[in-house]
Amino acid sequence: MNNYLWPAFNNRYHGYKPQILKQYMPTNKYIYSFTYDLTEGDLCKLESKYIFNEEEKDKLLLSTIKVEPSSSAFIKSRLDVMEASEDYAELIVKIKNENIHIEGFKVEYVVLHGDTTEYPVRLTKLKDIGFSIEGTPDYYKPTVTYGLCYLAGVWYFGILNKDEFDWLKHKEKPCSYSNSININIAKALINIAAERDKERTLLDACCGVGTIMLEACFAGVDIEGCDINAKICRHVRKNLAHFNYSAEVYNSDIKDISKNYDAAIIDLPYNHFSYAHDDSIAHIIESTAHISKRLVIVSIVDIEEQISHAGLTLLDSCSIKKSGKAKFTRKIWVCEKHV
Ligand SMILES: C[S@@+](CC[C@H](N)C(=O)[O-])C[C@H]1O[C@@H](n2cnc3c(N)ncnc32)[C@H](O)[C@@H]1O
Repeated sequence: MNNYLWPAFNNRYHGYKPQILKQYMPTNKYIYSFTYDLTEGDLCKLESKYIFNEEEKDKLLLSTIKVEPSSSAFIKSRLDVMEASEDYAELIVKIKNENIHIEGFKVEYVVLHGDTTEYPVRLTKLKDIGFSIEGTPDYYKPTVTYGLCYLAGVWYFGILNKDEFDWLKHKEKPCSYSNSININIAKALINIAAERDKERTLLDACCGVGTIMLEACFAGVDIEGCDINAKICRHVRKNLAHFNYSAEVYNSDIKDISKNYDAAIIDLPYNHFSYAHDDSIAHIIESTAHISKRLVIVSIVDIEEQISHAGLTLLDSCSIKKSGKAKFTRKIWVCEKHV
């Protein structure tokens, strides 16, 4: 891929200085496309900040960082760019020059923000690419899927990796809890806590039936759980075993855990099924801050005072409205211990 195209994109699209980007231009490029509804936009931005070191914009992001789309509920696809050109005819020549010979391939058009190419024109372009690759296509069970997209005056071609949503199987866990957070939030919490570092040890300090733990296990992140309620602990263990995941679960008050973790997630109890008042919230946050230097907390009330009282610095926060229930808003707080 011609390096000049990447800064050309960023210059037009994000206002970056091309000469700076040119100087440090690495060879691998990824174009991510995102999906989320109105209630989750801020959470997606917060998550992308901790995965990619920058926020997605208009449901897309160009990055040199490679992550699996299935690790986030919001990443729809990742295009591993092989060729790019401002001139479509030139792109086709470049694809032909790649001499791709593969049986069972498929080509998809990825419509990104600002692309007004009409559907019939998109189909014609897919055919052009199909004829530039040697082999018989397979639309239903492709061996590899290629992608074409148009962004800020540049055509991009590459291998398209889509989220297959395998993780949605976790919705069928044997033990549920109407109070649990949804899977999209659970995945974002792990990404915000782990920041792409699979070596990090995580604690789910109030694990409930394990919505967060299941997503961590799916993503290959090292996590342990803790819950004060014995019955709930039996349920989380059953849920983990159901999907063949193994992770330690402590039936304990968080204050009695002495092991240290790189980061902890706390989905604080609230008043539907679990008792929560200011003292218990402060107790859980302070106890967790003793054993972890990084905390990602979920609450339905303002906890800034408790965060500061626990000796933590607030790095970021965001709100997630529950659709249909305007008054019920969850807040995510990202904090670290003062050094
Ligand atoms: C909001 S629920 C967590 C739900 C969980 N994220 C899920 O998806 O199932 C809060 C949990 O905190 C637990 N809890 C309350 N006080 C605790 C404490 N001091 N130590 C550990 N767990 C506690 C409750 O038993 C409850 O299961």
